[in-house]
Amino acid sequence: MTTPRPETLAKLTPVLTKRWLSPDAWRIGTYEQLDGYAALRKALKAHPDDLIQLIKDSGLRGRGGAGFPTGLKWGFIPQGDGKPHYLVVNADEGEPGTCKDLPLMTHDPHALVEGVIIASYAIRASRAYIYIRGEAVHAARRLRNAVQEAYDKGYLGRNILRSGYDLELVVHSGAGAYICGEETALLDSLEGFRGQPRLRPPFPATHGLYASPTVVNNVGTIASVPPIVLGGADWWKSMGTEKSSGPMIYSLSGRVVNPGQYECSMGVTLRELLELAGGMQPGHNLRFWTPGGSSTPLLAAEHLDVPLDFEGVAAAGSILGTTATQIFSDQDCPVYATYRWLEFYHHESCGKCTPCREGNYWMVRVYRRILAGQGTHEDLETLLDTCDNILGRSFCGLGDGATSSVTSSLQYFKQDYLDYIEGRTAPKLSDKQLVGAH
Ligand SMILES: Cc1cc2nc3c(=O)[nH]c(=O)nc-3n(C[C@H](O)[C@H](O)[C@H](O)COP(=O)(O)O)c2cc1C
Ligand code: SF4
Repeated sequence: MTTPRPETLAKLTPVLTKRWLSPDAWRIGTYEQLDGYAALRKALKAHPDDLIQLIKDSGLRGRGGAGFPTGLKWGFIPQGDGKPHYLVVNADEGEPGTCKDLPLMTHDPHALVEGVIIASYAIRASRAYIYIRGEAVHAARRLRNAVQEAYDKGYLGRNILRSGYDLELVVHSGAGAYICGEETALLDSLEGFRGQPRLRPPFPATHGLYASPTVVNNVGTIASVPPIVLGGADWWKSMGTEKSSGPMIYSLSGRVVNPGQYECSMGVTLRELLELAGGMQPGHNLRFWTPGGSSTPLLAAEHLDVPLDFEGVAAAGSILGTTATQIFSDQDCPVYATYRWLEFYHHESCGKCTPCREGNYWMVRVYRRILAGQGTHEDLETLLDTCDNILGRSFCGLGDGATSSVTSSLQYFKQDYLDYIEGRTAPKLSDKQLVGAH
């Protein structure tokens, strides 16, 4: 196990995670003792437009995967339109490997509740929803309890802290479908329909929930709002890089000694994160990894020093995504890992559009063939051709994301595929598992 050096330990910037280890961190009493709801008192004295400007000035970008500037999104909500406005928090967290929102809601649910109230006040919403993944029973229980505590203390409901502002907050559990994390599918699901993406435009900013102006933000995005209100835009920008400001929760999983959440300034490298996590497990050497979940192209050992911010990861040919860094070693097979991810995308494809529905179905079958030792060189062309017909031609990002590990594993680890095809690697799947592959 590697012990982190002091200069690497200094990379840790606990802002969203700072209360997680406090006893009973999820209770309102603890939260209030540790700065809780101080930002709300400050925010309610400000003009909503000034809050939107503050978030713009901070450079906060969405933590849900795409990194869209949050203040800009809030500014798109038309004001004085006479329609109800909604804030919807995306707490679906379905991206494989991603584990930052659920621990946040479990350990520090009031951070999200406080962020919801401030953000709703800024966009002039009087109703907000938190859409949480159905399987996340424990987190949902903590969240519902926190919402009740906030009502009891007058932070939610009518005339919040005698400011004249009213807000109702509802925690809604989904049924557990990855596609319901896509913001327009989420809105359909929240309205009681089958969760499938909507055609855009119109965008949620004007035609979102119940065809009204709606902001959809990730849990981490909204939980970043209270610290920004308290600390100011300059303090937030003092962490991270020029275009990727603030801290970020990186969730490390796989072949590391201490997997878990590490909150660091954006721009930290995997080399530094591995040092913080005690290094690779004994006997394992880094071979490939995802910078932001399975929808982001794989990176290899040569990318250890890539700055993990939006621009740095893009320059290396991948996407920062949800900062779910899944670590694989020389004892893991990139072909098999990609196959398992494809099984996931095939299963989770909502079926609305042909490239994703059919393409993932066929790619799973090609992978099974290769892994059973019955693949051909032509199969590799078929895979690339199929990806070419999915990427940019699918109705939503699920289809695009499904191609990431296929194309990147073929780019970096083509030899592994050839070893199966040419018989140098023993088949991983039996003939029995091949059923339906042809
Ligand atoms: C298939 C798919 C799944 C997604 N899952 C999530 C999710 O679980 N949580 C999330 O915040 N964003 C998810 N997103 C991104 C959302 O559509 C949206 O961009 C995000 O909630 C916006 O919030 P932000 O601006 O705060 O990042 C997903 C996107 C796609 C295409
Ligand atoms: S890309 Fe996949 S998940 Fe998205 S709409 Fe098409 S079929 Fe549904």
